Amino acid sequence: MKRAKVHAPAKINLTLHVTGQRDDGYHLLDSLVVFAPVHDTLDMNFDTSDLSMTVEGPEADGVPSDMSNLVLRAADILGEHLAAHLTKNLPPASGMGGGSADAAAVLRALLLRTLPPEATLDDIVAQLLQKIQALELHALGADVPMCMLNMPMHVRGIGEQMTPLRGIPPINALLVNPRRAVSTPEVFRAMTTRDNPPMPEIPTLPDAAALIAFLKDMRNDMQVAAEVIEPSIGDVLTTLEEAPGCGLARMSGSGATCFGLFADISDEELAKTAQTIRRAHPDWWVASGPLGNQFALGLPTFS
Ligand code: C5P
Repeated sequence: MKRAKVHAPAKINLTLHVTGQRDDGYHLLDSLVVFAPVHDTLDMNFDTSDLSMTVEGPEADGVPSDMSNLVLRAADILGEHLAAHLTKNLPPASGMGGGSADAAAVLRALLLRTLPPEATLDDIVAQLLQKIQALELHALGADVPMCMLNMPMHVRGIGEQMTPLRGIPPINALLVNPRRAVSTPEVFRAMTTRDNPPMPEIPTLPDAAALIAFLKDMRNDMQVAAEVIEPSIGDVLTTLEEAPGCGLARMSGSGATCFGLFADISDEELAKTAQTIRRAHPDWWVASGPLGNQFALGLPTFS
């Protein structure tokens, strides 16, 4: 197998509670994470003795193609050679996983390349979970471990403790980014409280309306600090809150991407609302679709 193609779905933090800070400065998180169908794509050629990459696509501006890109650092950790072509659809530094999601996609392809064809989905998940721990992938980027699996999960620690969740109902969402990159360390530094309460136990959530009701009492503890640094986040949140049928609007990660959740809306209506926002704000990035499990979307294909 000389080639692989793999997608890197966007990561969305439905909640992001910051519950403390370790002595090394890293923050302790408690987060409910899901994935969106919108994604970056990596095409890889393994028939090379180099380690190189090219980047193109609507959000490629400013994305490095040298060893500072996590894609190449991820391949290097496994001692692999490849030529990667990254199609960048997700805005960088946007709270959706970004470089970590791309790196996780490369690692998925490299790690699953040697699995026998009769491997079951459970075998694949077990193999990925084992490698995440063995390779200490959180050292590459805090979002890398969760972006390896692309399924709903409860994430704790600094991002390395993950519990996949089966009972999270899929939910329709709009994702909006004001196309302003936000620096994660800068937002962490600007936070005024770092020892906030964790999430309660996640209850049984029979449908999207129940999920929204639960999330309303939860938080993103980075949101206030991010809005101070990047005031356009406030405009995005107001726009989402005013969209017809929006049950909840909140920021993902350290921003600036925000999501609006819709319990009861047709795909057609959702696409129409996305188009209305795009027309009113042509400089914003807007995507729509169901948030939830994108495990299958993230599986590599080989040729
Ligand atoms: O790991 P990643 O590169 O995504 O994190 C960027 C920065 O955000 C880290 O260098 C660290 O300063 C901060 N961070 C943190 N606590 C976390 C994750 C990241 O303080 N749990």
